[in-house]
Amino acid sequence: STYETILVEQKGAVTLITLNRPKALNALNSTVLAELIDAFAKFEADKSQGCAVITGSGDKAFAAGADIKEMVDKPGAEFFSEDFFAGWSSQLVKAVRKPWIAAVNGFALGGGCELAMMADFIIASDTAKFGQPEIKLAVAPGMGGSQRLARAVGKAKAMDMCLTGRNMNAEEAERSGLVSRVVPLDQLLDVALKAAADIAAMPPLAALINKEMVNIAFETTLDTGLLMERRMFQILTATEDKKEGMTAFVEKRAGVWQGR
Ligand code: HXC
Repeated sequence: STYETILVEQKGAVTLITLNRPKALNALNSTVLAELIDAFAKFEADKSQGCAVITGSGDKAFAAGADIKEMVDKPGAEFFSEDFFAGWSSQLVKAVRKPWIAAVNGFALGGGCELAMMADFIIASDTAKFGQPEIKLAVAPGMGGSQRLARAVGKAKAMDMCLTGRNMNAEEAERSGLVSRVVPLDQLLDVALKAAADIAAMPPLAALINKEMVNIAFETTLDTGLLMERRMFQILTATEDKKEGMTAFVEKRAGVWQGR
């Protein structure tokens, strides 16, 4: 299907989704959200696809935030009655069980930083800049910028970012644990697509459960998390892919996965 604000391509088992409003620095409006929800639902349903990458078009921005021009004249009561932007968490984060990576190629500000943090991990270009500048607009983050950022980088950095609205560069973001890797801008897409292809080549049930268990670490007590982890491990030992994976290791060959 064709979209107005995003580009979607399949590269083997990897879906590449590109935010495509470069003139507005890929600002996130309601159309972008609706199109991303549709594209992610198709990715999730397509058995040939194992991992997705989301990036921004142009060299300047991943996404410079929610679209301020869409919000400037909108009455407050409407943000509330529409449950404005609730769909990001419920339909992109919770509804997508397959892994996806954010390849941040420039500004990731406000909603852009929040979208990147919804991904399972972030690979950043050396030119990336992360920030939660909402306070300068007399608002506050509305789709994870206080909650996911605090979990990712801890209280000191999260408070600093949200209260001053300053940007973090890629080096600080990596040091703080916000991003998993920093690479030169001209290698970003290749590195992200390679990571995604590697993930897509993994036994698919194990990929789903590995993702789910790391997320559970942020939602539960250590005792409950460890119990769930052990049970998930035990459940995976009952799959055909486990027999194949361990046999392939012993026979010194690559495994061939059935997804069951
Ligand atoms: C709409 C945006 C935009 C945004 C940039 N543009 N950010 N449009 N919403 N968030 C548009 C500009 O209006 C301009 O278009 C074009 O993109 C280029 O931007 P410039 O500002 O001219 O570029 P530059 O001077 O290089 O500055 C880059 C920048 C700046 C530092 C990234 O654009 C900036 O500060 N943007 C806003 C960042 C921000 O506050 N984000 C948080 C939004 S609130 P025109 O046509 O005018 O020239 C948010 C809340 C989420 O995200 C929670 C919701 C529930």
